[in-house]
Amino acid sequence: MKRDFIDIQEFTADELKTLIYLIEIVKKASKERALPDLLYKASLAMIFEEPSTRTRTSFEVAMTELGGHAIYMKPGEIHLGARETIGDTAQVLSRMCDGIEARLLKHKNILELVKYATVPVISGLTDYQHPTQSLCDIFTMYENARKIKGLNLTFIGDSTENFNSLLFISSKLGLNFYMASPKKYQPKESILNEALKNAKESGSEIVITEDPKEAVLQADFVYTDLWYWIGQEDEEEERRAAFMPKYQVNEKLMKLAPLHAKFMHCLPASRNTEVTDNVIDSEQSIVFDEAENRLYTEEALLIAFIGRTLKPWEKDKENIYYKEINKIMGKLS
Ligand code: CP
Repeated sequence: MKRDFIDIQEFTADELKTLIYLIEIVKKASKERALPDLLYKASLAMIFEEPSTRTRTSFEVAMTELGGHAIYMKPGEIHLGARETIGDTAQVLSRMCDGIEARLLKHKNILELVKYATVPVISGLTDYQHPTQSLCDIFTMYENARKIKGLNLTFIGDSTENFNSLLFISSKLGLNFYMASPKKYQPKESILNEALKNAKESGSEIVITEDPKEAVLQADFVYTDLWYWIGQEDEEEERRAAFMPKYQVNEKLMKLAPLHAKFMHCLPASRNTEVTDNVIDSEQSIVFDEAENRLYTEEALLIAFIGRTLKPWEKDKENIYYKEINKIMGKLS
């Protein structure tokens, strides 16, 4: 049966840990250029309703490295939601492709895509979660600290969709999560309640405060995200006023964190807004390792979710169709 990767809450802690260990192996193989063609001749439809650098590039390169192919689709170039229902698009793509990656504005639309798609769907971000980014982030922390449970993660800033999935995966895997944000931008009660249930099960702690200085005191990792994004242009001024200067991750704030603390950001960053140049470019920053790890994360996800539904031909020459096609081709002048 196909499984989709659109919501961290649909996975157990053990399943998430397995994916993290898979990323580690895949990274080693990929770095050695020794990744097997596990998605040989497979095709991935990639739907992007918003721009993307990391998500698009990582999925596209991952498909190439695994022996498959990716197709980039954006509104205006496909009929999704305009001249065709999401369900019809999902069924058509499922007939031609082996998987779908989708960055959709509304989470309810990815649920619709999942409902009608007969191939696995992987989320590349919706207004609810950014699960591939959060899985990558935990892998990046594991790679640095060689452990997961008991790590202290401090998030400074807005409760974005990326924040939601990071909170979910952290609380499932036993990381202690500290968040500092103005009251208005703290997580919704429903999100926090789900995370608190996870934390109770894993034995971790969640602290939400308005004080960034207090939040970074025991941080192993300090994380921030954009204060405003596409669709929030009208709120830019209000949001800047709410976050600046108190919630900016700058040298002064990083000095309050333990010396070993690393700085993380999912990127794109608005430099000298939520983070200063001298933090993002410092020795403590691991943002570009984090970005690179998106590639290995997508490779692992593609293997785990799409690779297992395929039966790739082992060798073209031993394939019955290859022989048949060659026979016919031989008859052509
Ligand atoms: N972090 C992230 O998803 O980046 P992109 O928007 O460039 O894909």
